[in-house]
Amino acid sequence: MTARIIDGRAIAAQVLEEVRKGVFELRAAGLVPRLATVLVGEDPASRAYVGNKRRTCEQVGIESVHHQLPASTPGEALLELVRELNEDPGVHGILVQLPLPRGVDTQAVIEAIDPAKDVDGFHPVNLGRLVAGLETFVSCTPAGILELIHRSGFETRGRHVVIVGRSNIVGKPLMNLLVQKSPTADATVTVCHSGTRDLAEHTRRADILVAAVGRPHLIGADMVRSGAVVVDVGINRVADAQAPRGHRLVGDVDFEAVRRRAAAITPVPGGVGPMTVAMLMVNTLKAARRAAGL
Ligand code: GUN
Repeated sequence: MTARIIDGRAIAAQVLEEVRKGVFELRAAGLVPRLATVLVGEDPASRAYVGNKRRTCEQVGIESVHHQLPASTPGEALLELVRELNEDPGVHGILVQLPLPRGVDTQAVIEAIDPAKDVDGFHPVNLGRLVAGLETFVSCTPAGILELIHRSGFETRGRHVVIVGRSNIVGKPLMNLLVQKSPTADATVTVCHSGTRDLAEHTRRADILVAAVGRPHLIGADMVRSGAVVVDVGINRVADAQAPRGHRLVGDVDFEAVRRRAAAITPVPGGVGPMTVAMLMVNTLKAARRAAGL
């Protein structure tokens, strides 16, 4: 078997086209959706992610306002900026790029963001609402993974989804999304993590396997059931003297080996990554609509 490659860029483009139409309607009604982006420090990967998010805003008609702060910014100054953005009625979404420099209390910053502007879905109020099955902002990567699966024609209902990774950003919200009683969820979910014994025994039982741990090539072909759908969330930089920048990006899945066993697989790059950005646009449009009482 050779897996179908799930094209995240193409599916993200569909989502972005829908957002663009929604933004156009809001603008016609006199409202310009606006996302505030905050980057503390100069980490090259974070700079690239924020740049990508801002370019995508432009593509769909969302205004982005960037706040660049030095790595030495005290936590209190960052909290003050977040409070100002909370109070600004022209700002509908706030994105503080993670990770923050050492010494900054990341959780305090996340909790300072107005839950109504928390387009990342990281605030405990939004995470809690997700767990309770209430209307909320779902964090962008888990939301993007579900869109990717469904828009590729796969169902989650009744399927066994095995998630490797229990982060607050991916594993935990994804688990909570998938167990909801809903035609677009209704999965049986196993969550594996660093404390799991015999990881392969679990991953081999997956109809849908999601790898989100940040370890290059952790998932080999022997860990995947023939015919499974494999979603690779990892974005790992590995040294490569042949590559123009001296490194290349690889996922958590050994793509070349697993593609010979799986029914479908997401590549890195070009799989989950573009979906994360697209869902940020979905969330920002939603925040702007809500602010307008729509
Ligand atoms: N760092 C890695 N992923 C994310 C994300 O989805 N949002 C933010 N704000 N920072 C990140």
